[in-house]
Amino acid sequence: MANPFSLEGKVALVTGANTGIGQGIAVALANAGADIAAAGRSEPTETKALVEATGRRFLSIKADFGSTEPVQRVIDETVAAFGKIDILVNNAGIIRRADSIEFTEADWDAVMDTNLKVVFFLTQAFARQALKQGPVNGVAGKVINIASLLSFQGGIRVPSYTASKSGLAGLTKILANEWAAKGINVNAIAPGYFDTNNTEALRNDADRNASILARIPAGRWGQPGDLGGAAVFLASPAADYVQGITLPVDGGWLAR
Ligand SMILES: NC(=O)c1ccc[n+]([C@@H]2O[C@H](COP(=O)([O-])OP(=O)(O)OC[C@H]3O[C@@H](n4cnc5c(N)ncnc54)[C@H](OP(=O)(O)O)[C@@H]3O)[C@@H](O)[C@H]2O)c1
Repeated sequence: MANPFSLEGKVALVTGANTGIGQGIAVALANAGADIAAAGRSEPTETKALVEATGRRFLSIKADFGSTEPVQRVIDETVAAFGKIDILVNNAGIIRRADSIEFTEADWDAVMDTNLKVVFFLTQAFARQALKQGPVNGVAGKVINIASLLSFQGGIRVPSYTASKSGLAGLTKILANEWAAKGINVNAIAPGYFDTNNTEALRNDADRNASILARIPAGRWGQPGDLGGAAVFLASPAADYVQGITLPVDGGWLAR
């Protein structure tokens, strides 16, 4: 029987793969057999070396996902290089922290645009390409959105982030409803507290760091590699009948 977790022969586009969670997922998908296109605004030098060490091909695409401008070009460049695209990981995202009473319109718009608006239109462009390619064994494409615990909870001092990630969980469901029968799986992963640039301010605040750690049953922050298995699963044939979920990978945080 074929390995249901194999991504052999697949092409995955990962946004924001130069660092953190995106890098961890790109390397995990490559280890499972996928070639990787990495789209982002910083050069993914380290990720390129890690992916190529697995024997898979790697393409870097310059793109600033602060607006929808690069969306179609990113899909086109991936297809031009690899001939097709099978998997999209919407990972690039930002966070802005301030009390809601003084939160600015600029911090609202920047986060909503990158974390939600651009994700929708990149996913739309991916789906159009996947449908043009047509299904193989009933599957035309796999979308994995990187959501958050704030897709389920409120958080504090991050109003646009919570709105964007709660919106992303909803978007994951509506797109699954519309596209499941067309052979496109749309799912999300909700990382818990991971040790990346995104959470540096929390780790540097001794009180927040201690209260976060106290609530994590696993007793530690997540490392980007901790998400690899969930990403490979959702991208693989093993998850062909999984639609519209937001899968927490959180060391037990939500069970608390
Ligand atoms: N760390 C956590 O605990 C945690 C928890 C839940 C969800 N997440 C989500 O996980 C995802 C990855 O975050 P991370 O924790 O790995 O943080 P990170 O290290 O800050 O990575 C964020 C990535 O997004 C890219 N990015 C941001 N704005 C961009 C733009 N306008 N155009 C292109 N790329 C852009 C960054 O590129 P640059 O390096 O160029 O800035 C970077 O590659 C985000 O969606 C985040 O919300 C993180």
